[in-house]
Amino acid sequence: MTLFLTPIRPVLKGLSVAIVALACFRSPLYAQSLNHDDTTINADNATIERGHYLAIAADCAACHTAPNGGKAYAGGYGIASPFGPIFSTNITPSKRYGIGLYTFKEFKHALREGIRADGAHLYPAMPYTSYTKLSDNDILALYAYFMLKVQSVDVAAPTTKLPFPFNIRMSMIGWNLLFLDNTRFKPDPTQSNEVNKGHYLAIALAHCDTCHTPRNALMAERGSMALSGASLSSWYAPNITSDPKSGIGTWSNDELVTYLKTGDLPGKSQAGGPMAEAIEHSFQHLSDADLKAIATYIKQFPAYANPGVQAARDTYGKKSNEEASVRGLALNTRNHGEELFSAECAACHRPTGEGSPDHYYPQLFHNTALGAPYPDNLITTILMGIRRTVNGHTVYMPGFGKGSFVDSLSDQDIADIANYVEQQFGNPAVIIKAEDVHIIRTGGPKPLLAQIGPYIAPAMIFGLVIVISLGIIVLKRIQRKK
Ligand code: HEC
Ligand code: HEC
Ligand code: HEC
Repeated sequence: MTLFLTPIRPVLKGLSVAIVALACFRSPLYAQSLNHDDTTINADNATIERGHYLAIAADCAACHTAPNGGKAYAGGYGIASPFGPIFSTNITPSKRYGIGLYTFKEFKHALREGIRADGAHLYPAMPYTSYTKLSDNDILALYAYFMLKVQSVDVAAPTTKLPFPFNIRMSMIGWNLLFLDNTRFKPDPTQSNEVNKGHYLAIALAHCDTCHTPRNALMAERGSMALSGASLSSWYAPNITSDPKSGIGTWSNDELVTYLKTGDLPGKSQAGGPMAEAIEHSFQHLSDADLKAIATYIKQFPAYANPGVQAARDTYGKKSNEEASVRGLALNTRNHGEELFSAECAACHRPTGEGSPDHYYPQLFHNTALGAPYPDNLITTILMGIRRTVNGHTVYMPGFGKGSFVDSLSDQDIADIANYVEQQFGNPAVIIKAEDVHIIRTGGPKPLLAQIGPYIAPAMIFGLVIVISLGIIVLKRIQRKK
């Protein structure tokens, strides 16, 4: 038992502290300082405008607006967690159903420490671990915007009802003690203003790291592997450090800006899934100066090389000239994947894989989804398709998964197509099995999970904390009995 406990001892120590804290603070932790703060908001238009821009940069609407026509910021988006949906709350200034009665101090506690006005702990599905780095001025601007400009919506968001013991919000105290770095952003004096500005935008506001950084067993970000790539249920957020092979070291700053603004970088990459959403709702609306600063920061980010990566993922494959030879051949001489590619994909991506001349249909060679050493984004793209609206224009690729217009493709069919395109246009070392497709297909309740998968990770943690806490209590009991 001792042996088993050794590696997790520091964690257990933190948890013991958490349990003591839990025992001591029966009453809401901040009850004393809260509710005595009568900040009169007297913000000028410039502050409110800044707050509006910050809300976009931080993508508050992504979670606080229900999909399919939900009222702005009225909550009700069910963020999937393994224990059931965690509903975002109404953060309009409605006094009854929203945050209309929040004082500035309470608002600040919610954003920085994940503590609600009534003292209850928020689940980290709300990314307060990122927002904690925001400056006082910026939180004030956000507060002014939400209180004075956002339309009040007098409708209650659904209540989050997780099963016992996950409904004990106090368990978050332990996780916060271990993983919440409750400090503000500090500019690095050895770096340029541009890099520092980009750092603040990318990490405190846009929270790139919450998706692109892998997490440890307790679902906190692994600082030593920051931005080195992470699995987000069905999607994979690639390595975006400056490593020339594993990361995006060979992209120019302008290319990164173009990608963030449009989601389409011909001859390199297109954005689907959660990245497409972030571009749609947030990044495309940022100023060019801010996007440039983000690119400058990301491009100087220390390289992290993932083991075994041979070449940059946008360098694989070439145009296929199989079309000509294939035309003369009887269908039965072509392999199954090729046939399916011909039937389902070639109309748009062309049999040669070169896409359309205007790039609306992207080329498949020199495409990061196919050159990556993992097939996740390729399989997910085939299953779920792509829909991204930027600057009023929508790009659309239909999904081929269940519920789509072709419901008939089996896991093996999709593996066959994926293997064909990998061999023909992508990374030939990647071999896809029907099981791989099955895993991605059953990645959970589809639309929610597909869109917001990354936020499952933080949600899982409090479950683990409770399980371990209970474990400690049981161990203590056993020891006492002895
Ligand atoms: C990734 C999803 C996500 C994003 C982005 C997000 N939130 Fe939240 N937020 C949530 C969820 C989920 C809850 C409810 C969590 C719970 O019930 O424990 C929440 C709760 C809150 C609360 C507590 C309200 C209450 O009394 O219930 C406030 C205030 C809040 N968010 C403000 C913001 C602001 C301001 C932003 C942007 C700067 C933002 N959120 C961005 C998911 C998000
Ligand atoms: C909500 C999760 C999420 C957030 C937030 C996010 N990303 Fe991504 N990102 C992804 C996913 C998933 C992909 C893969 C998309 C695809 O291939 O279709 C991706 C792809 C990318 C790519 C393309 C890499 C390649 O090889 O094709 C770049 C560059 C990138 N992200 C940069 C950023 C930056 C910079 C930020 C912050 C400003 C950011 N991302 C924020 C999830 C996210
Ligand atoms: C109706 C036209 C259409 C069909 C059919 C189609 N695609 Fe696409 N495909 C698109 C569009 C549009 C995009 C997105 C372009 C963008 O993001 O700018 C895309 C994007 C892609 C990407 C890049 C995704 C990423 O995340 O980087 C891959 C890979 C891909 N398609 C493969 C396929 C395969 C394989 C098939 C057949 C199973 C297929 N497509 C069928 C139109 C289509």
